[in-house]
Amino acid sequence: MKKAALLYEGKAKKMYATDDEQVVWAEYIDQATALNGAKKVAIAHKGTLNNQISGHIFNYLKTQGIESAFIQQMSETEQIMKKVQIIPLETVVRNLASGHFETKFNVAHLMKFKQPIVEFYYKSDALDDPFINDAQIVALDIATPAQIAELKQKALTVNTALKQFFADIDITLVDFKLEFGLDFEGNILLADEISPDTARLIDQKTGKSLDKDVFRKGLGDLRPGYEEVLKRIEDKERAI
Ligand code: C5P
Repeated sequence: MKKAALLYEGKAKKMYATDDEQVVWAEYIDQATALNGAKKVAIAHKGTLNNQISGHIFNYLKTQGIESAFIQQMSETEQIMKKVQIIPLETVVRNLASGHFETKFNVAHLMKFKQPIVEFYYKSDALDDPFINDAQIVALDIATPAQIAELKQKALTVNTALKQFFADIDITLVDFKLEFGLDFEGNILLADEISPDTARLIDQKTGKSLDKDVFRKGLGDLRPGYEEVLKRIEDKERAI
């Protein structure tokens, strides 16, 4: 497998073509952004951490019967993935109140929901990723009602698996964002990354955030938290 032309550069990854038209090559970059890119800082070593954490999580999901675009890690900062056409939606799953839910509805931090919440946001930098409901998704031809139902079902299945995965390493999964794409056959496939950049993770031992909230809130270096997540995942895998 050979890395070819740069396809695009996102906020956290550079995507390259490969010599296989059905495969893309992702390079995780040493950068953190918040507020839709308005806050952007270079953070050495961060790409390595997210590349590895995301790879471990997608491998774990596969063992739970959840397929994704992830194929394999190629280096500390690189991985190859099945090429998909990304559906322009951010699918957010929430177990406990935090972030935008907490501020929007002025509820207690980490209020527990009776059942997980699935929300969609329209991926558009120009519009600042607005919340979008099912009827609006259909009206804008982003997905059909059947595809929306499939996205919700897949997101909840990922949530069940991930809650257990993190609970096993004494971490509470508060909420997270997923992206899905359509593969060459038109199947919906989990894509992008799952990492402390895209999930809120709280250490059950200390109550501390092990995720990008540390950066968003200006609480210091995010890397120790990410390193702790990776270490616990690796320790758990070694113990199996
Ligand atoms: O900000 P908000 O509370 O809506 O975020 C919910 C979850 O989605 C958080 O885990 C956050 O890290 C993730 N998210 C993301 N990318 C975005 C927006 C939210 O990964 N653009």
